Amino acid sequence: MMMSVIIVGLQWGDEGKGKFVDYLARDFDAVVRFNGGSNAGHTVMVNGRKVVFHLLPSGALWGKRLFIGPGVTVNPEELAQEAALFPGLKLGVDLRATVLTPFEVWLDRKMEEMRGKAAIGTTGRGIGPSYAGRMFRLSLRVCDLLSGKPPDYGPLAGAFGYSEDLTGWAEMARKEVEEFAGDVPSELMEIHDKGGSLLFESAQGSLLDIIYGTYPYVTSSNTIAPYVSVGAGFPFSMVDSVMGVSKAYQTRVGSGPFPTELDGELAEGIRRKGMEYGSTTGRPRRVGWLDLVSLKYSVRLNQTNSIILTKLDVLSGLGRLRVATKYNVDGRPTDSFTSIFTGNAVPEYTDLDPIPDVDWAGYAREGRLPQQAMKLVEFIEDQVKVKVSTVSVGQERGMTVEL
Ligand code: IMP
Ligand code: MG
Repeated sequence: MMMSVIIVGLQWGDEGKGKFVDYLARDFDAVVRFNGGSNAGHTVMVNGRKVVFHLLPSGALWGKRLFIGPGVTVNPEELAQEAALFPGLKLGVDLRATVLTPFEVWLDRKMEEMRGKAAIGTTGRGIGPSYAGRMFRLSLRVCDLLSGKPPDYGPLAGAFGYSEDLTGWAEMARKEVEEFAGDVPSELMEIHDKGGSLLFESAQGSLLDIIYGTYPYVTSSNTIAPYVSVGAGFPFSMVDSVMGVSKAYQTRVGSGPFPTELDGELAEGIRRKGMEYGSTTGRPRRVGWLDLVSLKYSVRLNQTNSIILTKLDVLSGLGRLRVATKYNVDGRPTDSFTSIFTGNAVPEYTDLDPIPDVDWAGYAREGRLPQQAMKLVEFIEDQVKVKVSTVSVGQERGMTVEL
């Protein structure tokens, strides 16, 4: 058994990490969130029932120990709502984690309005203002709430015309977090030193990373695996394996560059079949062909050891199958994802044999893939130079093929 593993999204989020964290959590002692906040939406199917987590790590279903690391921003009300779903929950929230107040939720929406056409398309959960507030050194930490320090956004709130008094809110929030507060990095190291296993779950995706992603159309945290050192206080060098999750195609919710984006009937078909609607906001996701230029980029950033390929079944029966292998920027071909930061990237595609409609449940039961799907897997492995260890062909836990 591996001791500590990171699961990270290799695209713009919604790669299906939730299903795998849930699926793998059974074999680990604890599951840890280390970035973002309740902007995440991890959908997990349990006995045909859909459960969406926004803030809690997905392993709650197995009664595992759960941790929210110092790099996360915590909305106490949402924490309380999700915690209430699991009586006897074993949850630790780091004392240094940022507390997200109604001010940041208000400011997130206000700033989106102010941006007008240039809006990011955020989830409206206050994530950007919360990370900014931390950098301004105005946000409260969990430990500040406990010690009774009232929130005071001073000049920041004044500049935006926010005048609510949050003292009463802070009193309520303190009661919601107090039972969970602790020193998460120390607890993680203790579990590790006793031979226990840790599963780290990154939220969002690598291409939404505040530094490495498609800025400014990104989230406000670092989403890539090495951030575990900061966001969980657990050294990346002590992680045994990084599993990167990618869909067999590409999606994104919100604005920003998307070289392989499709429109029209084909896009609508994939959207409908893949149920590509935001799990936090319900917005229709933009869809497109798999982009191997971006996949190579994120595989490297995360030091990915293996790839979990999801939603392969959605590509079946479309009558065509393509993957982008290069970009063309101002008439010049390039392998470099960063070229999209300075120019207009037009993808160059390789056409593969289309995947026919098959009985995916039957294939999943037999633990194999139709020949055309296997070709796609091999093509990806050959291009990206990392093994695809697992392929998901449906939402339910059983609809998974180990290669
Ligand atoms: P924010 O994280 O709410 O500030 O949103 C910034 C961008 O990240 C927007 O394009 C969101 O749609 C996107 N985003 C944030 N969280 C997720 C997620 O969990 N999955 C997919 N996209 C997300
Ligand atoms: Mg999601």
